[in-house]
Amino acid sequence: MSNEREQWVSRIGFILAAAGSAIGLGNIWRFPHVTGTEGGAVFVLIYLITTLLIGYPLLNTEVSIGRKTQRNPVGAFKALAPNTPWWLVGALGVFTGFIILSYYSVVAGWAMSYTAQSLGGLYAPGTDYVDTFVGHISQVWEPILWHFLFMLITVGVIAAGVVKGIQRTVKILMPMLFILFVALIVRSLTLPGAGAGVAFYLQPDFSQVTGQTFLSAIAQAFFTLSLGMGALITYGSYLKQNEDVSVDSGWVVGLDTGIALLAGFAIFPAVFALGFDPDGGAGLAFMTLPAVFAEMPMGQLFGFLFFLLLSVAALTSAISLLEVVVAWVIDEHGWSRRTAAVVLGGLIFLLGIPSVLGFSAWSDITFQGMDILDTFDWFANSIFLPLGGLLTAIFAGYVWGNQKVMEEANCGKDRQFLCAWYAVSIKYIIPIAIAVVMVWGLYETFFG
Ligand code: PFF
Repeated sequence: MSNEREQWVSRIGFILAAAGSAIGLGNIWRFPHVTGTEGGAVFVLIYLITTLLIGYPLLNTEVSIGRKTQRNPVGAFKALAPNTPWWLVGALGVFTGFIILSYYSVVAGWAMSYTAQSLGGLYAPGTDYVDTFVGHISQVWEPILWHFLFMLITVGVIAAGVVKGIQRTVKILMPMLFILFVALIVRSLTLPGAGAGVAFYLQPDFSQVTGQTFLSAIAQAFFTLSLGMGALITYGSYLKQNEDVSVDSGWVVGLDTGIALLAGFAIFPAVFALGFDPDGGAGLAFMTLPAVFAEMPMGQLFGFLFFLLLSVAALTSAISLLEVVVAWVIDEHGWSRRTAAVVLGGLIFLLGIPSVLGFSAWSDITFQGMDILDTFDWFANSIFLPLGGLLTAIFAGYVWGNQKVMEEANCGKDRQFLCAWYAVSIKYIIPIAIAVVMVWGLYETFFG
């Protein structure tokens, strides 16, 4: 442990970094399209309940484990349960970080490419945007180049360090993201006919609920809050001892959930107002929205702002994914931060290439009808993250002990309501809910 461990300089530094990790493609790209295909408001409702019952207590737990041990996920479990196999939960997290960042960066590359194209003639009326999108992703070199560029920036930030890299970047980018967002929402809600989109988004239709709806809601809550893979253990490990974890975590969950909900308000009213279909799937942001921007007054400006926002949000999340992997080799294997960032960033770049090729040369490689990128996303979100969360909750509730989580999270303050909430959630709700939903959702995916 020769490397001096850095700490966030201020409370706001931690909150912005953790919110930056949470707010990403998951909020702006994934949440709207999953809401669109899972039936709208009813999915939003289940997702919100999941965030309260499972997301917030688990986020507190992860940050507490990190702050207590001041270690990466593998080291943290080793420190709390020496000579047991629990460190494997941390290792699963590091592995998941590798997988997620590899394809996350490919999608972020699309967003960067669309930002650049927005400055040119992307929004010509009458364009077939399905063609444009498929044409873009089924090339080989261009998407690889954008993926490379995105990884290069991510590696640059991580190599610069926790304070000079991560904290400095999020302090500039997060306020910018909030401002871009407000501009987009005002535009979307003021289009004539926006009301139909608001209704789709806010009026639940309970006939749409299946096991898949619950699995998708849990998967979305985990992915968007960066839970189940030790990102918040890692960020928590740079948190000062006098910080109140419960309060800071509340900010992170609130900001992330707020931005996801607002993303729906930025997107659905515009989609409905201009007569498009909300269930366009993963292509919603890249195929439906450009068509919306092409029809909308000042569409080029708003299109540019939207894709810029998406790229910025992706960057502040990608740095947390890489930080998990980098912190592991720094702490456990004594690597320097720079070497770790470059070597592991390089490996993740290579691992992302199959996701790119899955839309061209390797397009006949599929799993349950999914291309390579969607397969990685499916394994990460439907199996690895919930499993990581399940095991973290069992560890916290039954091995490390609820009491310890509460002491660490609450800084010795007596908060009876919160403590009861953690206790019930960590020991009972999280393990049971995740286990049931995983089995149910997996059964439907394979046999339903
Ligand atoms: N929370 C990010 C998003 O919503 O886009 C994705 C993510 C980042 C997941 C970091 C997991 C993680 F550790």
